[in-house]
Amino acid sequence: MAEPPGNPLQRPLADGIVPEEVVARTENRWVMIMAAMLVVMMAVIVITGVAGALHPSSNVEVIDPLTLHLGGEFAESNLGTAIEPDGSATVRLIGEQYDFVPHCVRVPANTPVKFRLTSADVVHGFLLPDTNVNTMVVPGFVAEVRTRFAEPGEYEMPCHEFCGLGHHAMWTRVSVVPQDQFAAQGPLERTRCAKQ
Ligand code: CUA
Repeated sequence: MAEPPGNPLQRPLADGIVPEEVVARTENRWVMIMAAMLVVMMAVIVITGVAGALHPSSNVEVIDPLTLHLGGEFAESNLGTAIEPDGSATVRLIGEQYDFVPHCVRVPANTPVKFRLTSADVVHGFLLPDTNVNTMVVPGFVAEVRTRFAEPGEYEMPCHEFCGLGHHAMWTRVSVVPQDQFAAQGPLERTRCAKQ
């Protein structure tokens, strides 16, 4: 077959073949779009970290998951909400397949609340939607998150870490009540807010 005359690089392209400049322009556009997405995602992480107080837990505390129930901070009588001498609240919870103990906790509104959690078995997750509370609950470690609830209300709390066959049923509630209502409650009522 005879070669057509002229410079082969300047010959018209066969049907369906995209010229190099078009390919390069398209690729450059996609690189810019990807870079812009990375910038936006980085900005979201930084802004929520600074403005929304979303941050990785900063304390590394170890605890023996086998002896949680025998005594110390996570013995059954210490679980639930406790009011500290400075008026803030500390909530202690244990995650286990497939519930949090206690199943529902009550906390006062407009009060600093510190959640301290640990797991008796596998890794669970603790999340309160629309707040800055979001942490893993890892056996052998104590997770601590601090928040403050501006308004009374009910916060549904799903376990957000796959922990086994019953994971989807692992829910807890945090019930935020006005300060005076909270103060009027006995210690048991603070942990007995589960709907029967
Ligand atoms: Cu516990 Cu999922």
